[in-house]
Parts: sequence; structure tokens; C-alpha cells
Amino acid sequence: MILPILTYPHPTLRQKAEIVKDVGKEIRKLAENMAETMYNAPGVGLAAPQIGQSLQLIVIDPTGQKAQGLMVLINPKIVAAEGEVEEEEGCLSIPDFYFKIKRYSKVRVKGYDPLKEKTIEIEADGLLARIFQHEIDHLEGTLIIDHLGRVKRELYHRRILKHLKKK
Ligand code: NI
Repeated sequence: MILPILTYPHPTLRQKAEIVKDVGKEIRKLAENMAETMYNAPGVGLAAPQIGQSLQLIVIDPTGQKAQGLMVLINPKIVAAEGEVEEEEGCLSIPDFYFKIKRYSKVRVKGYDPLKEKTIEIEADGLLARIFQHEIDHLEGTLIIDHLGRVKRELYHRRILKHLKKK
């Protein structure tokens, strides 16, 4: 099922997402629906707060193509990071806007994988490292515009609101 994606400045996007304590049928179904929503968008990552569920759950596929490289992570955490790289980045909750954002070039992410039914650690670089940082930001209530300087952020805040009103 394709779920509606919340857009800026919805308050749920600003909440710290709750830890998932019990990985049961509901969470698995939610992850499945989130993956379908991500592929449909189309996007390469989606965090549960973006579909109105304030839970620490993300789906990622750097290929953006169904069943190619789907990863589902619950309660993900960055446990190590290094390097720095600046690239353009967008967000399904802020459609049509792209910003150059500095991120770690390499990260190690730990979380529970409901497909493998165990806690895993993933070493990521390149696009995958960027997506992990972006989606884990969502779980903290952080959005891409928060990585801009104050003046630019305020300018884009108004531009985004104006743009989304027209949609
Ligand atoms: Ni996003």
C-alpha cells in the first residue's frame, strides 16, 4: 500500500522518533508499505516519521529500483564515521529542492534487520553513507534545511512554504 508522504513543515517531521521495542507483524507490514511508497515516489530512502509514524524505522535502496537492494533497519545508529564530502541532496518531504550538504564520507551503521531477523552492522560509503545519514537525521527530527546556515535556512523556509502551497 502506498502511503501519503508528509511534507515540510509537518510537526511529526520534527519529533524525535520512538525506539521500536517489539518487531511484530505490524512493524513488518509498515516496513513493506514504506518500501512500496519509497519506490513509487520514487526515492532511495524513507523514514517512518515521513509517513506519520514517529518510530525508529527506515527503508533504503540506493538503486531506487524495486527488489534490487532493499534494506530495512530498526533503531539504526551511526556507531563510527569518518571523512567529509559535500554533495547535492533532496528529500521526499521537501519536494523539488536540492541543497549541497556536508556529510561523513564513510559510516558504520548498527541496527536491527527484520529481514535477517538479527542486529547487523553495515559499513557504507558513497551514496549509501549519505542516505543512512539523511534517514537517521529524520529519526532525530532533523531535515536537510537544518544543515544550512541560519540566513539561508530562513530564506528557504519561506521559499519552500510558498512552493508547496502552489502544489
Ligand atoms: Ni528525507
